[in-house]
Amino acid sequence: MDTIRIALPLAAAIAASFTAAAFANDDKLLNEARSVASAMPPKLLAVLQEEIQKGGPEGAIGVCREKAPAMAKAASEKTGWAIRRVSLKNRNPKAVPDAWEEAVLKEFDQRLAAGEKPTGLEKGEVVTVDGKKMYRYMKALPTQDLCLQCHGTPDRISPAVQAKLQELYPQDKAVGYHPAQIRGAMTLKKPL
Ligand code: HEC
Repeated sequence: MDTIRIALPLAAAIAASFTAAAFANDDKLLNEARSVASAMPPKLLAVLQEEIQKGGPEGAIGVCREKAPAMAKAASEKTGWAIRRVSLKNRNPKAVPDAWEEAVLKEFDQRLAAGEKPTGLEKGEVVTVDGKKMYRYMKALPTQDLCLQCHGTPDRISPAVQAKLQELYPQDKAVGYHPAQIRGAMTLKKPL
């Protein structure tokens, strides 16, 4: 009887400490993913602004086409997180979300519609794929006025940019956006 009385609270305490440890670990992963994902967009935006000023939006297409994937690759190599960009209306034919990413992008759109700020939209989760655990994280990439020169409605995209986009991306779906919408997201994952 006495053993049970002692054993039960002890078992509960051990279970609680395991759960607390798991949460602390998730928090650590979330913070890590957040800082990796947050480093890139401001740098990219600065380069975009500079290139648009120098050569107009048609001259800046290479920034989104080469610089963004190159930055993601460099950050992947440095941090160990697999990093890419995806969208429900992708321009790059490879930027198609997988099932988890598609669900999160739809959730971001719903959260935006419910009044959340687009810049703060993020999601981190431990998922199990083929019996292996990994941490997955997504951060929304909202449109701002500057983006519309290449992702906006036809009246916002110059004929030169339209021609170039058509040539490079015949299957382009990434147009018709307004400011403060979700253009896509950075998506990060790391095996645990
Ligand atoms: C100068 C033109 C230009 C501007 C301005 C621009 N983009 Fe892009 N964007 C592109 C091109 C070109 C691609 C395709 C890149 C590739 O081939 O991977 C792209 C791809 C993307 C992708 C990857 C998913 C996909 O559809 O392929 C995201 C996300 C994105 N842009 C967000 C933005 C956001 C947010 C802004 C504003 C901060 C922005 N872009 C401004 C031209 C532009």
